[in-house]
Amino acid sequence: MFFVKKFLHGIVIRLTRLFSGLMPDRVPLTFLGSSAVGELFEAMAQTGSRRVLIVTDEGLVQTGWVSRISEAIQAAQMEPFVYSGVQPDPTFDHVEEGMALFKEKNCDAILALGGGSSMDAAKVIAAATQNGEDARKLEGIMKVKRPPCTLCAIPTTAGTGSEATIAAVISEPETHVKKFFVDPKILPEMVALDSSLMLDLPPAITAATGMDALTHAVESIVARTSRNQTERWAFSAIDLIFEHLPRAYAEGHDEVARRGMALAAYYAGLAFTRTSVGYVHAIAHTFGAYYRTPHGLANAIALPHVLEVSKAECTAPLARMADRLGLKGADDGEKSDRVIEAIRNLMHQIDIPENLEALREDDIAAITRQALAEAHLNYPVPRYLGQAEGEKLVRTMLGRVA
Ligand SMILES: [Fe+2]
Repeated sequence: MFFVKKFLHGIVIRLTRLFSGLMPDRVPLTFLGSSAVGELFEAMAQTGSRRVLIVTDEGLVQTGWVSRISEAIQAAQMEPFVYSGVQPDPTFDHVEEGMALFKEKNCDAILALGGGSSMDAAKVIAAATQNGEDARKLEGIMKVKRPPCTLCAIPTTAGTGSEATIAAVISEPETHVKKFFVDPKILPEMVALDSSLMLDLPPAITAATGMDALTHAVESIVARTSRNQTERWAFSAIDLIFEHLPRAYAEGHDEVARRGMALAAYYAGLAFTRTSVGYVHAIAHTFGAYYRTPHGLANAIALPHVLEVSKAECTAPLARMADRLGLKGADDGEKSDRVIEAIRNLMHQIDIPENLEALREDDIAAITRQALAEAHLNYPVPRYLGQAEGEKLVRTMLGRVA
């Protein structure tokens, strides 16, 4: 049975590689820096947008950012409308509310403003407005037939990289089952990376979201779908994260560090949306489902443990990563070990634990089963793990007994 499953997983990898190879290397038109937001709106107006629906959350309304962004939209001779009902893990109810407002106000463009949840909701609203309006029918791979209305994004966190990805996740309101939308058509057309929107992010969120971005980049370089272009983007992200995350964590108002992290999350998004992710994300999603562990924190905890068990199959990319970071080693194996150490050191600097306190021995078998099922069905992991090996891996993440 193990070999049959492994064979089937090989087919998943080939299909992912084929899909990735067919995907155009198109990237959003991206504006960077303190004037990025104004330049984005100028470009939107130049390309014909007039009535813009801002898809965001109530938290950003409270901070005053939505008012400031609305004023900037008006300054570019466009009219803003606000849908601020998005909540974490957005549901089809949020999508339908956003669509209703888009239609009522006769909008012609959507601006995603916020973290991953607002990006996800905005992508699906944009696609649904041009494709029969039943968002549920667009779930799956390449189901978006007509191009969405103009879709632009301003991220306010540096982690998900959703502004640069072709995917969105929406949950069923009753069951909270997650539905995936994957289509190059939902990649935002234009993006503004303005670090001034990120200056007030609390340190714990800065740390967790930054480690999410690092995980995207590392899982991308070790994926069996990695190629030259994706590796270039991923290494750019890795360089920036090691340089800027500790400073962004310790000194939230350091604009240079925030700008570096905004760019890093974007590069990592460009990379992993083409290669997919791996066991780290599969385990993190399962920790989230069991213990509500924040996504970035769960990824951070799982990352070094997963690399330890996978390193024999991905020494070459890990050694290249060591070279990029200036880490020395006698051979590729030693360099891989230095990379894992460097990740642990980075986590230590930003106060992220190495183990998950909430993890219970009794849950390990079921968590492993769920994570392996997700990974083997979707991700081009460098090494195929069976249930026993998977449980051994998850057990290494148990919180230390005092
Ligand atoms: Fe992630």
